[in-house]
Amino acid sequence: MSRQYDEHHRSVMVHEALHYLLGGRIEGTYLDCTAGEGGHIKAILKATNGQARVIGLDVDREVLDLAEQNLEEYRGKFRLFNSSYVDFEAVLRQAGVERVDGVLLDVGTSTFQLKSKGRGFSYELDEPLDMRMDLSAKITAADIVNSYSESELSRIIFEYGDEKRFARRIAKCIVNRRPLSTTRELHDAVKAAMPPAERYKRKRHFATKTFQAIRIVVNKELENIEGVLRSIPGFLKQGGRIVFISFHSLEDGIAKRVFREKSDSELKILTKKPIQPSQEEVELNLRARSARLRAAERI
Ligand SMILES: C[S@@+](CC[C@H](N)C(=O)[O-])C[C@H]1O[C@@H](n2cnc3c(N)ncnc32)[C@H](O)[C@@H]1O
Repeated sequence: MSRQYDEHHRSVMVHEALHYLLGGRIEGTYLDCTAGEGGHIKAILKATNGQARVIGLDVDREVLDLAEQNLEEYRGKFRLFNSSYVDFEAVLRQAGVERVDGVLLDVGTSTFQLKSKGRGFSYELDEPLDMRMDLSAKITAADIVNSYSESELSRIIFEYGDEKRFARRIAKCIVNRRPLSTTRELHDAVKAAMPPAERYKRKRHFATKTFQAIRIVVNKELENIEGVLRSIPGFLKQGGRIVFISFHSLEDGIAKRVFREKSDSELKILTKKPIQPSQEEVELNLRARSARLRAAERI
């Protein structure tokens, strides 16, 4: 793999994810829809003494190379597929698996995507505005910022970025500065839209919310989550578990709604309220602070 990258992804809520996913079992077949660098897969294989089998998917072919390396010691116990979880059914068919004992989704970006050069996710780097997790997809972040109307941009920044106060000003600034082709140009447009005093008074960097909003649109993240959560329960064995970890209230809200709708017929909800990471975890890994975990069991 040629990308420069020297910071590894820290898997979030590993203990909690294993607790709900395995429910005390040590055997079985598990599907990790968002394999990333393979951190959760490794934890599953370790906790089950290598007795479980894991099928891992990731839409980002570059991150799977890292997963392959990280899981070296468990060769033969897992299979990785470069696929969107939208197509999980085809992958299960290809792997010869009808139903699984558990499914994990840990949605969002991996540290690899944020930190490696040339992927265009980060306001900290100056590079082409890309943000595609699926490198074969056609639409990039540059396409979105250069083609959406000012009101569409304002809406997505407000809704998906949760940028309540400055969404309109940011959208206006983006439109005035078109065409934008780099992460630096987007960063600077957001900066120009904000009163100087506001830029540095936030807990998060001022461009975080806008970058998040555009990334969600580029990768169709919300539609994909809704689709997979609706269809996954049909592929769980009775007593099989689904564990969903998200970093955004809209994503968590989708899981809450879909689990509730299915709670009469297909699922028993295991987490009345979303589980949050421990204080210790947040201290060790700041990225974990917004993580929320929901779990349900196939009836
Ligand atoms: C937070 S990371 C997962 C980290 C992983 N659990 C670990 O412990 O290393 C999220 C991953 O989901 C992947 N992803 C996002 N959308 C996807 C999709 N539609 N299908 C498959 N993978 C997707 C991203 O490429 C990214 O690698």
